[in-house]
Parts: sequence; structure tokens; C-alpha cells
Amino acid sequence: MTKPIWIKHAAQLATLAQYEQSPRSKEAMSELGLVEDGSIWMEAGLVQAVGTTKELEERYADRLHEAEVVDATGHLVTPGLVDPHTHVVYGGSREREFEMRLEGATYMDIMNAGGGIHATTRMTREASEQELMEQTARRLDSFLTHGVTTVEGKSGYGMNVETELKQLRVMKRLQEEHPIDLVPTFMGAHAVPNDYKGREDEYVDHLINEMLPIVSKEKLAEFNDVFCEKGVFTPEQSERILTAGKKYGLIPKIHADEIEPYGGAELAAKVGAISAEHLLKASQEGIAAMAKSGTIACLLPATALYLREEAAPGRMMIDEGVAVAISTDCNPGSSPTTSMPLVMNLACISMRLTPAEALTAATYNAACAINRQDKVGSLEAGKQADVVLWNVENYQELQYLFGVNHVKSVWKNGVQVVK
Ligand code: NIG
Ligand code: FE
Repeated sequence: MTKPIWIKHAAQLATLAQYEQSPRSKEAMSELGLVEDGSIWMEAGLVQAVGTTKELEERYADRLHEAEVVDATGHLVTPGLVDPHTHVVYGGSREREFEMRLEGATYMDIMNAGGGIHATTRMTREASEQELMEQTARRLDSFLTHGVTTVEGKSGYGMNVETELKQLRVMKRLQEEHPIDLVPTFMGAHAVPNDYKGREDEYVDHLINEMLPIVSKEKLAEFNDVFCEKGVFTPEQSERILTAGKKYGLIPKIHADEIEPYGGAELAAKVGAISAEHLLKASQEGIAAMAKSGTIACLLPATALYLREEAAPGRMMIDEGVAVAISTDCNPGSSPTTSMPLVMNLACISMRLTPAEALTAATYNAACAINRQDKVGSLEAGKQADVVLWNVENYQELQYLFGVNHVKSVWKNGVQVVK
């Protein structure tokens, strides 16, 4: 039997617990469930108890000697961060495109000329399963060192049966072999592959009739995502794909209104998507529809910064009653980063979320966006013991000292993975 771990005397423990609303919007996004002189008892991979140090001392009085003690005096402690939107499994690298964009090319110019997502698709098709495993594992290691303990990952750099399955199988193997929890999304509709150019609807048919049945039969994904954008998939095509996925039990997600307003937010609400992503150019009506349907806005301020675009109107969305989550969008083109702490900083700086809202968006609401709120995203008895100890004293300081990795220690399922 492994020893229980007892973290005590945390200057501030942000539990994110004890709040019924799920996912959280408006004022609920500021309720961090703070405990001063906080304490956590972890055992058997789970959080067993949370409270003040005095409360846990009393509760475990006859077992204190058994525990491995972590003195968190002067430190902030939070749940492990959750990244609800990544394209973490890919081959190759696109640093030349970064230069091209700085020289004036746009993201869509590059993609339409056969680069962008198409370039990564070529490199991912060429990579062996083992190479993809190794590259992805390195990125997941980096996520852990940034305090991220759960990561959603999308396929979508295959766009044929063989390589879409290869990406999803890599995620399945990494879920077994890597400490991070990986949550898989099928995104065969990431772009129309070059060999289907001008025959977009045929690709949609192929995806619905050939890809979805295998993905579902092999239980390789929980969500189904579409890049609904002018020049990629129309709202009509996106709706067909998402509706077909639902019949196979895949929950809809949608890359919406990133580059132009295109009715993506409205469609997300209409098909009952769990989340809509990006939303830089979402319409007022679309945002209102999302608030009404309870669709989570998964906002990606690092992508906006990297593409030198104005970030999504996060402040306004929260005020309108939309539950907001945030994510790195980790991918080789528009956001090659694994830093959720930076994303929290940017959520404050470029979208005017408060420090408390940014933490909720990166933990509890992020867990809701991938249907994991029963297991992760807050520190409560019975949830996974995914915990971060930070080199700052409080959550405001975490968001204020920006661009720095303040992680000191990370536990995943009660095992220390970052020391
Ligand atoms: O979420 N917008 C579409 N897809 C990704 C980018 C993928 C890429 O450029 O490789 C995104 O930003
Ligand atoms: Fe994305």
C-alpha cells in the first residue's frame, strides 16, 4: 500500500468545490471555494478530504503518522489544470509558416495553398505510430510541468481512415501509458483533404459513412468536432456531420466563427454541442443562443495572440451568461504551446476575465467542456487526486506574474509527477 499524502498549511487552497451550478457562468465563475491554511488528504489516487489544516488534523488524528507530509506554507494549491481543446497528436513542425505569416501571409492563404493543416496532415500520414507516440508523449510531459493533468486531444491530421485511426490509437495507448488523462475527440472534419478538392460533399459522405462507424465501433472517441468556417465546412455540412456523429454516441463540439462570422455559435446551440471553440467573430445572436442552450464557450486566447487577432469577447460572454472555459489549442500552426498558465494570463489580459474567472475557466469549466466534471476540475472528496502546488501565495498572484511557469509540484491520481 502506498502512503497517504497530506498537504498542509497551504497559504491558499482553491478547491473550486461546493458550488452547484454546472458549468459555471456569471458570478459562479468567481466562486473558488477558498480555504486559508488549507489541507488535503490524498489516498488511493483520490482526494479523501479537504479543509483547514486544523480540521484534517482532527479528522485523521490517529493516522497522521502514516502520511507523507507536504508543507505548503506560503503556497497556493489548486486542482490540476484541464486543457479541453488540443491537437496534440501530430507529425512534423511548421516554423517556416510562422515566418511567412510575419512576412504578411494569412493563416487561410497558407492553408489554401496546401500548407497549414494540409502540411501537418502530410507529415502525420508519413509518421509511424511509434514516432507519433514519442512526439506526443514529450508534449504531454510539457503539459504536466505546466500543471495540466487532463488534456483533450483531437484527430484531424489524417483525413483518411488510416491516419485518423492512427492518431486516435496513439491517444488510446498514451491514455494507458502516460500519467496524463487524455480525452479523445474525432475531428475528421478538420479540413477537406486535397484529393477531395471541389468534391466537399463527397468527403462529408465518406466521413459519415466510412469513418464514423469505425471510430464508434472501436470506441476511439467521445466527441466529434468540425471546423465550421468559410472555405472549410459550411454550417450545413457541419450540421450533417455533427448530427451523424450523435447517432454513434459522439457528443458535438465545433470550431466556430474563428476567422469570419459564419453562424457557428448558432449551430452549436442548435445541435446541442457541449462546447463551441474560438468564437472570435461570433454574433450577438449566437452568443445569446449559447447562453440559452448551456453550450460552453471554449476560448483560445493564445491562438488569437499567435495569429495577431483580437481575442474573443470573453468578458461580454460571461456577463451574458455563457459558461467560459479556456484552452491552449496546442497545435503546430496557430498555437504551438503547452502553457495553460500563459493561457490563464492571456484570458485576463486580452479578454478581461478576472483572475478568479480565469482559474475557473481552466479547471472546473474546462472539465465540464469534456464531460469530466465528476472526476477532475475541483478538489473534493471522491475526485481524482490531481493537485498543483504553485510558487505563488494566492490566485491573483498566479495570474498577475505573467509568462512564467510557477508550478512547484504536481500530483496525478495521488502520485507526484513533478517535483
Ligand atoms: O483550432 N482552426 C482550426 N484548427 C486548429 C489549427 C490547426 C492547424 O493550424 O494545424 C485551431 O486553431
Ligand atoms: Fe483547434
